[in-house]
Amino acid sequence: DQSNLAYSVGMTLDRFIKFKQQDFPFASGELSQLLRDIALAAKIVNRETNRAGLANIGGAFGQTNVQGEEQQKLDVIANIRFMRALSKGGEVCAIVSEEEDSVIDLQNSSGKYVVAIDPLDGSSNIDVNISIGTIFSIYRRKTPVGSPIQEIDIMQPGNQQVAAGYVLYGSSTMLVYTTGCGVNGFTYENSLGEFFLSHPEMKAPKDGMIYSINEGLQLEWEPEIFSYIQSCKERKLQSRYIGSLVADFHRNLLKGGVYLYPSTLKNPSGKLRLLYEANALAMIIEQAGGKATDGNQRILDIQPHSLHQRTPLIIGSEKMVNEVISMKTNSS
Ligand code: AHG
Ligand code: MN
Ligand code: MN
Ligand code: MN
Repeated sequence: DQSNLAYSVGMTLDRFIKFKQQDFPFASGELSQLLRDIALAAKIVNRETNRAGLANIGGAFGQTNVQGEEQQKLDVIANIRFMRALSKGGEVCAIVSEEEDSVIDLQNSSGKYVVAIDPLDGSSNIDVNISIGTIFSIYRRKTPVGSPIQEIDIMQPGNQQVAAGYVLYGSSTMLVYTTGCGVNGFTYENSLGEFFLSHPEMKAPKDGMIYSINEGLQLEWEPEIFSYIQSCKERKLQSRYIGSLVADFHRNLLKGGVYLYPSTLKNPSGKLRLLYEANALAMIIEQAGGKATDGNQRILDIQPHSLHQRTPLIIGSEKMVNEVISMKTNSS
């Protein structure tokens, strides 16, 4: 029975994608191919990540990106790898990347999809051997295939994503993605060079014991965030913060918890980027039964106005995110 087979733990990502393709009303196979392209680039970045210390690809690249962050060599390498995979595949017409100032128009008239990507998340952890990641969002273009790319193809709210996912280069490498019918996780088997289904139909615990926030910024928080974190301490919850969004998110997804990158005095919109960080994880958490907000509205309903725009992010177990929201509404 095929439907049973589609969910058997241990099946390869390629096979899983093929079975899942039946779920798409517009199953043309292109989205499936695009997911395979991303998985291939992830394998390459995984290889580079693993040998970074030996290959002299650690450390700073010597340039800053458009957001004024110092680029690491691996940021640049990962960006090149994903750009190549996405442009060669033929399914994509435009790419938004953290490491590119403006939209990359692939001038590919047959490409139906727009991809937004954080090629390497957690840059500051590369050189200290701590988990890092990749985050991606996939949209269908709004304008007809064959016509020039327009702003409406790029500036789509997260609720228009047709797929989203992340890769975690951690104690094992995982790829987690959704196409809007639940969330599935795959673990990379190095010796075989394949991702295998290891976490079928992932569900975020409704409540959790973990809160994740950069407490060094406490003096810059709004009072409601301060009170919420205070209440976590009173309840003796666990504080866990890696400093790689993908890794913090993944842990909380599995164990139950809330991740906060709130607005600060210096950065009223927080630090994380809507298009290639918040949106993908928001789709995944919702698909897993959790919640994502900027404190005032659902992340997925934010209408973007610029490529690298930032947003406060509160994401994770439904009950915990609701607690933060009610603190905010009670105070206003
Ligand atoms: P990136 O490495 O892609 O620029 O993202 C960095 C982000 C995210 O990974 C992480 O959660 C956050 O920055 C950490 O910020 P702080 O150091 O301010 O806590
Ligand atoms: Mn960066
Ligand atoms: Mn990032
Ligand atoms: Mn990054």
